[in-house]
Amino acid sequence: MKLPGVAWRTMTGYDLDAVARMAGVVHPDFYEAPEVLAERQRLYPHGSYLLEVNERPAGYVLSHPWRLGTLPALNAELGELPAEPDTYYIHDLALLPVARRVGAASYITNALSKHARAQGFPTMSLVAVNGSQGFWQRHEFEVADIPELFPKLLTYEPEARLMVRRL
Ligand SMILES: CC(C)(COP(=O)(O)OP(=O)(O)OC[C@H]1O[C@@H](n2cnc3c(N)ncnc32)[C@H](O)[C@@H]1OP(=O)(O)O)[C@@H](O)C(=O)NCCC(=O)NCCS
Repeated sequence: MKLPGVAWRTMTGYDLDAVARMAGVVHPDFYEAPEVLAERQRLYPHGSYLLEVNERPAGYVLSHPWRLGTLPALNAELGELPAEPDTYYIHDLALLPVARRVGAASYITNALSKHARAQGFPTMSLVAVNGSQGFWQRHEFEVADIPELFPKLLTYEPEARLMVRRL
């Protein structure tokens, strides 16, 4: 990454208050309860990282194995991860404005793709919201139009798109 003092580290249970606060700031239109975010971290700690700027929380990512073509509902706990996952799913990557445009999001996206590839997943996937499609396209994600998913995507926002990257 380009700046000193900017670093990702593994997220722990102690970080979840900060994560919920940041989610409220970055995603005011996509509310998810603290227990929903906490469950993602608990279910797959290997995919949960906190970004710090000068040791203060400045962003997070939550990701986990999943089934391609089944979208998790917004603000809902998963219960458990699928027994036979076939995609590595990025639930959310969110940076406070102070931490943007320094390469931190690209850094963790590349790290997650290495992890996903090492685990043998053929794809990564996510739902792009918030005008983030361009960012994901730079990371080789492509929009996947699956008509059966349109109603579910609409519950995120009208512009929400499923994006898939082949590994
Ligand atoms: C999307 C987000 C994670 C990108 O973070 P970032 O800090 O800008 O990312 P990086 O610094 O790693 O940027 C990498 C490149 O992507 C570009 N980029 C960033 N956001 C972009 C966007 N929305 N559209 C097109 N390009 C974008 C940057 O300009 C940069 O290009 P450069 O290397 O030529 O300078 C960040 O803007 C964010 O947290 N947004 C709010 C939350 C959100 O929408 N998350 C995605 C939910 S699916």
